[in-house]
Amino acid sequence: MTDILILDPHTPDPELIAQAAEVLRRGGLVAFPTETVYGLGAHAFDRGAIHRVFDAKGRPATDPLIVHVTSVERIAPLVADIPETARTLALRFWPGPLTLVLPRSPSVPDEVTAGLETVAVRVPAHPVARALLAAAAIPIAAPSANLFSRPSPTRAAHVLQDLDGRIDLLIDGGPTNVGVESTVLDLSRSIPTILRPGAVTLEMLLEVLPRVIRGNVAAPTPTAPMPSPGLLAKHYSPRAPLTLYEGDAKSVAARLAADARAQVARGYSVGIVAADEDPFEGAHVVRVGSEQDLAGVASHLYSALRELDAAGVDVILARGFPALSGIGVAIADRLRRAADGRIVRC
Ligand code: TXA
Ligand code: MG
Repeated sequence: MTDILILDPHTPDPELIAQAAEVLRRGGLVAFPTETVYGLGAHAFDRGAIHRVFDAKGRPATDPLIVHVTSVERIAPLVADIPETARTLALRFWPGPLTLVLPRSPSVPDEVTAGLETVAVRVPAHPVARALLAAAAIPIAAPSANLFSRPSPTRAAHVLQDLDGRIDLLIDGGPTNVGVESTVLDLSRSIPTILRPGAVTLEMLLEVLPRVIRGNVAAPTPTAPMPSPGLLAKHYSPRAPLTLYEGDAKSVAARLAADARAQVARGYSVGIVAADEDPFEGAHVVRVGSEQDLAGVASHLYSALRELDAAGVDVILARGFPALSGIGVAIADRLRRAADGRIVRC
């Protein structure tokens, strides 16, 4: 049985937060909203609880977890030391959607780091996450609260779709704001390296750091060394196979519409991920926002994929968005992973 607490996302009731914090302190699993996606929290130093997180998600033990704390000072027990770069980034971007990978302290359980010599840490900004961390007064390891390889949950209902009965408690704090997972920045290398693009963009990082590079974020091949163990190509995927159309908006619209017609003629039910300005029509067209508002697109992306799955479509055709800068890089990264190689360049 999964209990559900409904909380005001801006001013969460302290008594209900205290109840949820107690579940975490005792080794229970609590899903909670962050500003990016819902997380599945567990006491970071409780090995039993961490094992249950992997079990509940069906996640391979080789994929390490992010540890969430209330402030940069609280990462001290988790890391070998706090480098100046981390302090600079914390000052500018924490609390917020940035995860830092740092050399670990030996006291962090191997289960959390998947045996790596580094640990990923983040200070989330969502008032519910902050209140929960403060009340629990322990570091909380939290992957996204979805079944392994499914799109991350951006609403409480998504968590229930995947994990009902598999976790102790779900805090429903409404839809999340950012909609894609945090930027993962590896500070353990000589040059800070983005392992996963997110809402804290390359351009923003370059405002405070002299050098930042993008890791091999475009779907790694199975034989290439994996920059971050969790970054499998097939990730964030709806059940229906998704094909991604990239290129200029007009060519994409023409090609996607033609392919949709062909699939319908073959008897398939076709879902389309569209922008507000696209001409597509039909029962299963889900609009994720305007090309002019990529933050809005990011916040609606995963719910669109889940909505099309729930509608039972056989295939999903998705239009790409401007991918070269800002949060467009993160949107393209997630869509390409969902497409698992099915990319049509128009
Ligand atoms: O926005 C987010 O980051 C959400 C919320 C809940 O905070 N969490 C999240 O966790 O997306 P998860 O487990 O779904 O993704 C964590 C990512 C994975 O790609 C994992 O491989 C990477 O962070 N990661 C964790 N520890 C790492 C490490 N020591 N070195 C490199 N990558 C690491
Ligand atoms: Mg995840």
